[in-house]
Amino acid sequence: MKALVLAGGEGLRLRPFTLTTPKSMLPVANIPLLYYQFSILKKHGINEVVVGVGYKAEYFRQFTGPLARKAGVKVYLSVEDKPLGTGGGLRNACGFFRNADEPLVVVNGDIITDFDLGRILAFHKERNACATIGLVKVSDPSAYGLVITDARMKIGKFVEKPKPEEMVADTINAGVYVFSPGIFDAIGPDNPVSLERFVFPHLLEKGMSLNGYIHSGYWIDIGLIDKYRQANFDILDGKVRFFETLEGGPTCEKRGEGKLLAGRKTVLKEGVRIRGRVIIGENCFIGKDCILEDSIIFSDSVIRDRCVVSGSIIGKGALIENDCVIDSMTLADKSLILCFSRRRG
Ligand code: GTP
Repeated sequence: MKALVLAGGEGLRLRPFTLTTPKSMLPVANIPLLYYQFSILKKHGINEVVVGVGYKAEYFRQFTGPLARKAGVKVYLSVEDKPLGTGGGLRNACGFFRNADEPLVVVNGDIITDFDLGRILAFHKERNACATIGLVKVSDPSAYGLVITDARMKIGKFVEKPKPEEMVADTINAGVYVFSPGIFDAIGPDNPVSLERFVFPHLLEKGMSLNGYIHSGYWIDIGLIDKYRQANFDILDGKVRFFETLEGGPTCEKRGEGKLLAGRKTVLKEGVRIRGRVIIGENCFIGKDCILEDSIIFSDSVIRDRCVVSGSIIGKGALIENDCVIDSMTLADKSLILCFSRRRG
């Protein structure tokens, strides 16, 4: 069975990090996000994965193969020459699914979840639906796509980014879908098109059968800086049970008052104090008597002596010289912060 991961977006809301690394390749607890997706697909018996890419396709060409091998799946890239939106990305990949008469699983490339794909697939088949949309319940749906269903989970309405008066449900589109092969005929051939904003409402208008399936486990969309940070810390805190047992998955150690996950060849000099949750990528250097608190430091970065870094994300290859204080900042890759700087976000 094959699945499609949609990973072609620009990830504007995760700048500056997506200026250099596509969103689905950003490290989450030191592992590229795409690896989590390959792993959850593999766990549910999906051994072949098509990744729909556009923005920074070169990056995927270089790094997707090794990740797929590590996860034990066969991978294909469906490359888009121009931004096609989520619907266009699906349509562009149709050649990979041409001979399939079984349902197709599609997953957004910016989520981490322990979704039970077996159950949603079984539900889809039982209903013989055109599309089954994975849903999760959230306390504030205002930033998401609200999906309103009846008691039998038949979808009646979609409301993108609902206003307070429109929040008549708490189930949102989780970016996990099961489609019958006929879905490709429902997406027009040319312009960019969004699944959630156009294709699904259009299918409803045509009277097609669309159902929702509620997932009650872990789910996060990492598309905003705060959510990205939370996903990293959730993995460290073991909130995503499936990933605790992941081969080659993150393992952290308790350090003083906090928890530390440090990549290969990373050096922490004497007197470094760790508070809260701290993730440091590979090949980093943390100088003497630094205090690191609730922060994520990407690989190849150097933080020299006596610095305090808290509530921050430090991009790849950054250099922070002696005696700096970095508080609540997001620093782009290769940032240079000179001695005694004080930066507060
Ligand atoms: P923002 O620019 O911050 O809104 O992020 P985004 O461009 O990634 O958009 P969004 O969060 O809505 O996308 C949800 C998922 O769909 C992400 O995994 C994207 O990579 C993916 N996606 C968005 N646009 C495209 C596209 O044109 N082609 C493909 N293949 N995937 C897309």
